[in-house]
Amino acid sequence: MLTLGKHDVRFSSYCPQGRAALPPCQYATLPFPTLFTFMIKPTATSTARWAVAALGLLGATACSQSGTTDTGQAGKGQADSSLPQLGKASLKDVLAALTTEEKVKLVVGMGFYPSGFPEGMLPPGDPGDREVPEKVPGAAGRTHAIARLGIPSLTLSDGPAGVRIDPIRGKDSTKTYYATAFPVATLLASSWDTTLVRQVGVAFGSEVRDFGIDVLLAPGMNIHRNPLGGRNFEYYSEDPLVAGSVAAALVGGVQSNGVGTSIKHFAVNNQEFNRMQLNSHVSERALREIYLKGFKIAVQRAQPWTVMSSYNKVNGTYTSESPDLLTELLRKEWGFKGLVMTDWYGGHDAVAQLKAGNDLLEPGTHAQTEAILAGLKSGQLTAAQLDTNAIRVLRLILKSPTFKGVKFTSQPALKANAAVARQAAADGMVLLRNEGAALPLPAGRKVALFGTASYNLIAGGTGSGDVNRAYTISIAQGLSAAGYAVNAPLNQAYTQYLKTEKAKFPKTKNILAPAPVIPEMAPPAAMVQQQAQANDVAVVTLGRSAGEGGDRKVAGDFTLTAAEQALLKQVATAFHAKGKKVVVVLNVGGVTEVASWRGQADAILLAWQPGQEGGYAVADVLSGKANPSGKLATTFPVSYADIPYGADFLGKLLTGTKGGNSFMGAPSENTYSEGIYVGYRYYNTFKKQPAYEFGYGLGYSTFGYGALKLSAASFNGSLTASLAVTNTGKVAGKEVVQLYLSAPAGQLDKPASELKAFAKTKLLAPGESQTLTFTLKPADLASFNTASSSWVADAGTYTVQAGASSLNIKQRATFQLPAALVVEKSRPLLAPQAPVNEMKITRK
Ligand code: BGC
Repeated sequence: MLTLGKHDVRFSSYCPQGRAALPPCQYATLPFPTLFTFMIKPTATSTARWAVAALGLLGATACSQSGTTDTGQAGKGQADSSLPQLGKASLKDVLAALTTEEKVKLVVGMGFYPSGFPEGMLPPGDPGDREVPEKVPGAAGRTHAIARLGIPSLTLSDGPAGVRIDPIRGKDSTKTYYATAFPVATLLASSWDTTLVRQVGVAFGSEVRDFGIDVLLAPGMNIHRNPLGGRNFEYYSEDPLVAGSVAAALVGGVQSNGVGTSIKHFAVNNQEFNRMQLNSHVSERALREIYLKGFKIAVQRAQPWTVMSSYNKVNGTYTSESPDLLTELLRKEWGFKGLVMTDWYGGHDAVAQLKAGNDLLEPGTHAQTEAILAGLKSGQLTAAQLDTNAIRVLRLILKSPTFKGVKFTSQPALKANAAVARQAAADGMVLLRNEGAALPLPAGRKVALFGTASYNLIAGGTGSGDVNRAYTISIAQGLSAAGYAVNAPLNQAYTQYLKTEKAKFPKTKNILAPAPVIPEMAPPAAMVQQQAQANDVAVVTLGRSAGEGGDRKVAGDFTLTAAEQALLKQVATAFHAKGKKVVVVLNVGGVTEVASWRGQADAILLAWQPGQEGGYAVADVLSGKANPSGKLATTFPVSYADIPYGADFLGKLLTGTKGGNSFMGAPSENTYSEGIYVGYRYYNTFKKQPAYEFGYGLGYSTFGYGALKLSAASFNGSLTASLAVTNTGKVAGKEVVQLYLSAPAGQLDKPASELKAFAKTKLLAPGESQTLTFTLKPADLASFNTASSSWVADAGTYTVQAGASSLNIKQRATFQLPAALVVEKSRPLLAPQAPVNEMKITRK
């Protein structure tokens, strides 16, 4: 039951498949009129009609089983060959043949009718849409078909770690539609391996294609501004170069299958709380250098077919209604050629969205259709603008597999893709600690496996980032398969405990509710002693889950719970007393506190949320079959208090506003006072020692860095930096080399150093070397000067640093920039409503 104040919504019998529906759950928790009047600017009558209908239906439970057939149809009606047909006639002729109403249909999606929702809970789409069978049940969105002109309906589906659709259609479980759950985005970024990420994209995209989906609603690529961000697992890094490069690789891989992607959520959607009513005040420099830069890289390197605007406002305007963001910057400056769609029910004013360059409104509501028609009538929206938006939809359709008639099997190569998921998972895990060479674990060891997550792996996060997978390999299964003797009585105790705890879960599942937390089991002291006696090593897995609709908390989520602390202490004391090692596996989606407890662990493996093959991948790394080569793409601070403006993360309600509910929140604002000092740019510049710094990660091998050679002593348009990396260890391994640049003091405040390039070596045999070469371009030297709206590189000495992490710099070299450069001239965009008072450091 969800308690929502005035119009409480109670529903106790969600359909078993109801989890496929993400955003609705969000709305399902809202006092309905508040939800609707906020979401879409409707006509007064439509609001009233809607609210009455909805209130009448609140409390109802329904399990509609709709759309269970693979139709792939273009919509009702027949193509009329006497009329211009899409793909045969010119776009101009097709456009001319479309009625105004049809053009409006093209820019408004077909609504959202997931099973398991109380009737009337969601704003309705256009009349009749609901009855059109879904091509792919459980997909998040569709576009309208205009059959007479040969225009088919497109299918859009989540999400960032795998295709999220209904695995069972109707009541027929003889044929299933499970997808591969790949490792979460944060893990992929920690591999720092764009070749690998592209391979993941290729496998992932093959499932998109094989399920008959046109556009994948991923990757998510917002910046990890704060560890508490509930969707951080869906995002890559605190650094825009890593985020942009990894996103570009994934997009390239997915799109190589002839399907589209939607990079999201554009932009500044760095928290869940109040996301639909939050106005973030961010300086233009921080926007350009941190929050938008990754998107720019992904757009320019990979040309995603679509971009998804975000829910929030930036500097006073909803991103989906911002011409500065969607037209001036994205299209004119960056050269984006595709389509922009809203996030589900995002924004407020359909006319403003179309004018801003937000071409497709998803999932689409009838109120939006009415608002657009009214806008055309009143002259607020021109026919030419609607044509521009509609043409972008048509261009997307022309590229789509549905339009091209690509046959789909609904039977992806799950086995082959599982192998890709397993390898990627192992490559993105980060070895944080390995005292006394506790790892790798020699073959055949007897393992005492503690922690509920050891037996119940958290494969990924919740919400639209979840994947309906056929199975999840636990760490217990993975270790057993690798030949370790996982202690049977302990295994049984945990299995029984999990069974009992899971039986207490609510029978119904709200996808936006955080995954139920299973409290850590407290094994009796005698049992722990016995385990220490009977086994060679202890492995303790600590798990975390988070997801769309909420942010994490500091106590007991960023930090360990009291039960986890107690378990760790108990196990460490017992095993260490017997001279046996303790290994902690962190099965988490984001950054957690480690500094207070790491001394009790001999080794710590950050396994992230590694997808369905996670248990095997953990065993691959613990056994040394895979030599860990991941590095942190986001800093692990010592404590939450070290995070700049961490206390202000969620923002505050606007004056005179009363608190809203947990999903919609209430009108509120926050200020990005740290400016460009996000993540390592802050810790390293302000000399705040982190627990584990950006770029950090150990392996079972060691690497030597040869001298850093620059192609010139003076910068003249371009410069290369190269160095040889040698495996000086005893086992084969890969090394991630990071190239940082320190710019001279000049007109602007600058971070101590910034990542400008990175590369991962191939698997180097002991003694083997590889020379890596990096190229620096003028843009890599520049910072954004808001006063002149330009990217400027100051004259002076630049220091290039090749590091194994942002603090472990192995080689340095300098070059001169003889005269300041204006690298790129822009114009003022996205200006804050009032100057943002940002932190600064003045470097000499
Ligand atoms: C999420 C998007 C997702 C969409 C469709 C929204 O609530 O923010 O990331 O793609 O729903 O499920």
